[in-house]
Amino acid sequence: MLARPRRNRQSAAIRNMAVETHLHPQHLIYPLFLVDGQHIKQEIKSLPGVFRFSPDQLLLEIEACMALGLTNFVLFPAVADHLKTPTADYGADPDNFYLHTARAIKQRFPECCLISDVAMDPYSSDGHDGLVRNGAIVNDETLPILARMAVAQAEAGFDMLGPSDMMDGRVGYIREALDERGFTQTGILAYSAKYASAFYGPFRDALDSAPKSGDKKTYQMNPANKREALIEAELDVVEGADMLMVKPALHYLDVIHLLKERFDLPIAAYHVSGECAMLRAACDNGWLDFERAMPETLLSIRRAGADVILTYFAKDFAMRYPGGM
Ligand code: PBG
Repeated sequence: MLARPRRNRQSAAIRNMAVETHLHPQHLIYPLFLVDGQHIKQEIKSLPGVFRFSPDQLLLEIEACMALGLTNFVLFPAVADHLKTPTADYGADPDNFYLHTARAIKQRFPECCLISDVAMDPYSSDGHDGLVRNGAIVNDETLPILARMAVAQAEAGFDMLGPSDMMDGRVGYIREALDERGFTQTGILAYSAKYASAFYGPFRDALDSAPKSGDKKTYQMNPANKREALIEAELDVVEGADMLMVKPALHYLDVIHLLKERFDLPIAAYHVSGECAMLRAACDNGWLDFERAMPETLLSIRRAGADVILTYFAKDFAMRYPGGM
């Protein structure tokens, strides 16, 4: 035997030289759930270890993360039912607690990267990402609503905006609205290939944002499709996206790999709530070892081609591997 691959695995020093994939807290984005009020830190039942924070508690959480070298955050609001309307107007109200908190975060931690979510669902009485008319999600009338929300978020100081709604043409529409108002430096992290997935359950629990009727299959992608992701990504590139996202991550590693090969923009992957909850549940039952399964999971998403990973385990990873792995 001339070739013995095991020679490169025989000691930690040699294995470390031969490492192909690195993962550092700088590659991670930590999703955070915000609720109005004070002194609130409420655990999400279907996502143990993840909380809804009131603004005061959220600032403390971000401070702790920054100390661990975790600098990137995506913020989602849990909005009270009485503020939800068919047209999601509260989303663009400059006085809403979400935008207030964003201003406070950027004032306290100007060096962080704060990312928004652009979609109607947290503010919509229909629980859909777009405007509902006669039971249908209408595309073109949704765009100005999303653009108003996006401009309000840019004004509040978000560094990047994350359109997660999957309406056609929204990246370009938002890009133009931002540029017209001088927000040429506000980035767009496009949810390019976002699938109609069963793995968003715990997230919808966290925000109480499940659709009131129907499902999201007329705008989110069919899990059976891969080439369609290329169409979506190509459009987002042309329309001015700065990063392309695949969502979910673990069940779509092939799509991550495909986009990484075909596009030169940074590729992000959203390790979504249900994917994190599965792993957490198995570990809490003693069936898997979190200390090993969690980093292996994140590494697999990086290896598939993700430059950036949105994961509820971001803080868990940064605490254990402040210098990366
Ligand atoms: C909604 C949105 C969803 C997620 C992020 N933004 C849910 C949905 O599309 O219904 C899911 C994230 C997760 O499950 O962690 N615009």
